[in-house]
Amino acid sequence: MANRALAVLGRGILPVETPIARADDAGLTRGDGVFETIHVRYGKPWQLDEHLARMAGSGRILGIDLPPAAELAALVDEVLVDAAADEEVAVKIVCTRGPEGQDRPTVFATMFDVAPAQRQGRRDGIAVVSVTLGVPADVRSGAPWLLGGAKTLSYAVNMAALRYAATAGADDALLVSVEGTVLEAPTANVVWAADGALRTIPVDTGILAGTTVNYLLDRAGELGLRAERARISLDDLYAADEAWLCSSVRGAARITSLDGKPIGEKGLTEGVQRLLGFPV
Ligand SMILES: Cc1ncc(COP(=O)(O)O)c(C=O)c1O
Repeated sequence: MANRALAVLGRGILPVETPIARADDAGLTRGDGVFETIHVRYGKPWQLDEHLARMAGSGRILGIDLPPAAELAALVDEVLVDAAADEEVAVKIVCTRGPEGQDRPTVFATMFDVAPAQRQGRRDGIAVVSVTLGVPADVRSGAPWLLGGAKTLSYAVNMAALRYAATAGADDALLVSVEGTVLEAPTANVVWAADGALRTIPVDTGILAGTTVNYLLDRAGELGLRAERARISLDDLYAADEAWLCSSVRGAARITSLDGKPIGEKGLTEGVQRLLGFPV
């Protein structure tokens, strides 16, 4: 049976069809708000504290006064009350800026099944196409209004990049800067193994600081690899031993090809998946 639930802060569990936002809510009218998506294993949210810390940071960047972390954690517990303990599910927490002219965020959490495409990517790998984000890699660190590093509700560009990738026959997109520096995927970070190191893109490029990537790099030693943060061009990614897109719900999906050309496979994926707690 499908797992689905909705909990609204201050109102508790409601039927999932319940309308929960006013028509003038800035989350709806402007994509003005923040969110987190969390993987849930055996009924327990994975890395909840890390997600709540990043959400607090996103709230600070947007100047939205979020509820305290303890209230958000209680909301997550509430929405998971009927989650199947033997299945993986996901929880999304959303905090919008709220109705026009009011200082009152709209806060809710939903629980839902992990999409089959995410599980398939984890198992079989993914074909990726590169797409430009249209900005230089250094611009967002000096331009706070571009909201680099915040997980905002304004994901229309990210979703359009994914639709473009699908029309190009790929499973996912890789966003690159105008200079051809790899940034991130629309809903994931990129990680690659090369020269005895597990590497990812530094956050001074304005990308999201991924909880999954941080977890993985903190434990790279368990795979016999060093952890490093470094920029890489699209062209140099072909020389990697192996590369993945990583996010909370998908775990690590090996990039099998980039723009139609194969990327290395050195048998590291199983170890990476195991480190993240996902069976291959
Ligand atoms: C743009 C973007 N980058 C990276 C990530 C990966 O973050 P995490 O590992 O915390 O899920 C996400 C997650 O959805 C994302 O939306």
